[in-house]
Amino acid sequence: MTQLKIIQTATRELETPAFFPVHNGGKSAEGNTPRYWENIPEMNTMMINAYSILSSPLYEKMRNGGLHKKFSENGVFFVDSGGFQQKSRNITLDPIKILRVQEMVGADIAATLDLPTFTEDCIYNQNHADFVKKSVKNALIALENREREDMLIYASLQGNDPTMMVNTIDYLMKKGNFDGFAIGGCVPKRSRYHEIIDIIHAVRRRIGDRPLHVFGLGGPAMIPLMVYMGADTFDSSAFITAGSKRLYFMPEKGTIEFSDIPETLYLPCVCPICSKHTYNEVRSERKLIAMHNLWMITHELRKLKVALEENEVERYLEKRLRHNPAVYDAFRYAKAKKRGLV
Ligand code: GUN
Ligand code: ZN
Repeated sequence: MTQLKIIQTATRELETPAFFPVHNGGKSAEGNTPRYWENIPEMNTMMINAYSILSSPLYEKMRNGGLHKKFSENGVFFVDSGGFQQKSRNITLDPIKILRVQEMVGADIAATLDLPTFTEDCIYNQNHADFVKKSVKNALIALENREREDMLIYASLQGNDPTMMVNTIDYLMKKGNFDGFAIGGCVPKRSRYHEIIDIIHAVRRRIGDRPLHVFGLGGPAMIPLMVYMGADTFDSSAFITAGSKRLYFMPEKGTIEFSDIPETLYLPCVCPICSKHTYNEVRSERKLIAMHNLWMITHELRKLKVALEENEVERYLEKRLRHNPAVYDAFRYAKAKKRGLV
């Protein structure tokens, strides 16, 4: 059962479900991430990547817990390993070196160095088995070498098959006491709702009430579905990338191209961005669209928290997802899955 939960981190308590906006460091070390935490009190969280910190000028500035100094003293920082980049850029990183970066910059939560299995990696293929094995090995190495006891370590899980992931969890839990788990490899599966539902469902059942993160998924329709399946936290850069493509998260609905919003006196939203700016200002400024999108995610989480508190999540999703046939179908599948019918 999904629930409101408190995760105790080194910085402060984190109430879940929670979203971590991805900071896209970039070479200039600043990226194009707006300083959203200064405007959205509930979004005082950030996902940032140890590999990109290490390979950018940020690193020197970030030593000795510098994330909090540079960005937000009270922010909860989830520092990803760089597993995704390891795969996409075909490089090999050292799990201990990554762990030390995570500790040094002041991570509240650290994800272990995985080797993602992508959709093209068939589960019967040797590659798939090798990636899963390497990810397991690195997870245990991180746990055994942790120096900062107050930094939470989440084991990054890989695999294209729920049974295989469950076996991986059994092995990891036998060998170590992880603070949580993070499901990887979902980005390429992002439109395969049934596969994602199967995986989150299987993992949640296996890990009991330990914290569960899903990497790379956090669109306005996916969040309710993932929370329903038992995920606690997620991260995504979709709000920014959508902003760059002039994609606007419609309140209560899906994502639309900004130019498809009827140009009337009013924008269809009362967030601080859309209240203060005109249609033309929002249309012409990517950062404004990104900030509006983040406000929509904030609003979505708030509505989910209320629904969780009132034990009305199913009823809320029924209403929330009805307008989107693909996601609504996925919700019906999810419901059957939770009832043990499929
Ligand atoms: N971010 C998006 N997908 C992944 C993944 O599979 N592993 C890690 N570590 N980070 C991710
Ligand atoms: Zn708005």
